[in-house]
Amino acid sequence: MHTLNPDRLPRHLAVIMDGNGRWAKQRMLRRIVGHQRGVETVRLIVEECSTLGIGYLTLYAFSTENWLRPKSEVTALMTLLKKYIRSETPRMMKNNIRFNVIGDRSELPPDVEREVTDALTQTASNSGMVLTLALSYGSRQEIVRAARQLAGDMAAGRITLDEVDETLFNGYLYTADMPDPDLLIRTSGEMRISNFLLWQLAYTELYYCDVNWPDFGKKELHRALHDYQARERRFGQTSDQLQKRS
Ligand code: IPE
Ligand code: IPE
Ligand code: MG
Repeated sequence: MHTLNPDRLPRHLAVIMDGNGRWAKQRMLRRIVGHQRGVETVRLIVEECSTLGIGYLTLYAFSTENWLRPKSEVTALMTLLKKYIRSETPRMMKNNIRFNVIGDRSELPPDVEREVTDALTQTASNSGMVLTLALSYGSRQEIVRAARQLAGDMAAGRITLDEVDETLFNGYLYTADMPDPDLLIRTSGEMRISNFLLWQLAYTELYYCDVNWPDFGKKELHRALHDYQARERRFGQTSDQLQKRS
């Protein structure tokens, strides 16, 4: 494994966990078996990120568009989610992890929502890594929701037009309290964003890897982090400007 510079880890790592279905298909297994194995990877990666000292880990677990999948798959995913949250809460407590959810929670089945609420309450005072699951999450929906709330506040006289800027708008997003992701990893070889964190990814480093999520392990994670550490983040400036500053 590569040696990582602990001072240059991403503060916020976001992951599009993709390829569970293909992993299963390649092995002539049902898609749900791929999702089950995907949950094992989640456990491993959460543990490793927390050990490394990453501040925020955000995992895309279920998109608004995923509701369009066959009902049996959606039900199986919701059951898995419920079990995962329930079984992981004690481990989150042990590792000082604060659980967080972004997305339209009103769409979740009541039993899943109950587990979510329980885990949020139990872990609320933990001060270690913030583990965010994007559940029933769609970024365009998030932006429209933010715009509606902002318009509502303006109509009610709580804010004025002059106050509207990036910082204020950011405050209406699900991610209001989080820094933008520094690194986004997508597994399974797909190179697209799939309606994930469109606003927040403005200057995120993107990393794609070919392995399917159930096969993603510590080695792949370290490779991605190492790749990230070798990059120069210029934020529109020139390389010379950055070198002068440091
Ligand atoms: C990612 O794996 C998990 C979810 C989207 C819930 P997929 O289920 O998308 O797997 P592929 O892309 O079909 O292989
Ligand atoms: C994105 O994966 C959503 C999650 C990982 C939860 P998808 O597999 O749903 O994305 P598309 O539809 O192939 O872009
Ligand atoms: Mg997929």
